[in-house]
Amino acid sequence: MSDQTPTDGVIAIRTATLADAEAIARIHVAAWRAAYINIVPQTHLDNLCLNDRVKLWQRILSDPETHAGILIAEATKYTKRCPRNSLLGFASFGPAAAAAAAAASSTREAELRAIYIDPESWGEGIGQKLWQAVERHFLAARYETVVVRVLAGNKRAIKFYRAVGFGENVDGGTGEIEIEGKKLGVLRLRKRLL
Ligand SMILES: CC(C)(COP(=O)(O)OP(=O)(O)OC[C@H]1O[C@@H](n2cnc3c(N)ncnc32)[C@H](O)[C@@H]1OP(=O)(O)O)[C@@H](O)C(=O)NCCC(=O)NCCS
Repeated sequence: MSDQTPTDGVIAIRTATLADAEAIARIHVAAWRAAYINIVPQTHLDNLCLNDRVKLWQRILSDPETHAGILIAEATKYTKRCPRNSLLGFASFGPAAAAAAAAASSTREAELRAIYIDPESWGEGIGQKLWQAVERHFLAARYETVVVRVLAGNKRAIKFYRAVGFGENVDGGTGEIEIEGKKLGVLRLRKRLL
């Protein structure tokens, strides 16, 4: 399977390599800080550590199993805002977690684990292009459905997932996670692929 999926000549989508770990970590931290302001406790956002994230992504990208499920969007042509080959966003995905897959009976279910775009490039269609590339991977692997977990307060992401075809909250109610003592609602959204 080709790793390179040229889109509009300026942005290309490809599988990440170990060399992308630091750039991915930078976007991960910047997008957390921009997206989760007033949702996740500010001290948690302030204390996010770039070095820890770099190590995390180096680990993920060194493991052949998880490495295959990381796509990045990058600018391939020099523009005023985007120097050549600068990373614009990434997505990670794979089979749905075993417990959730069991609950979904015998359907082949995939999971979108993360999709993060550089906050300076939000609203320019990069998320949609990246999602379309992820969806092509799912279709090629004959997944029937895909789920994504999203914080209930993350309105921008929920609007994005609805726009690309994810439906209502799978579990009816919300799940919950706790960050620094603050309880945060989590939705699980599903999209049918086949
Ligand atoms: C959610 C997220 C991934 C969406 O990515 P994005 O690149 O901003 O999304 P897109 O630009 O593709 O789509 C968003 C909007 O841009 C519009 N758009 C699409 N193509 C476009 C184009 N070529 N030019 C301009 N706008 C475009 C879309 O129609 C959409 O508009 P709408 O909001 O009015 O419906 C991104 O905002 C992000 O990284 N958020 C922070 C991290 C996060 O919350 N991730 C999800 C965790 S579960």
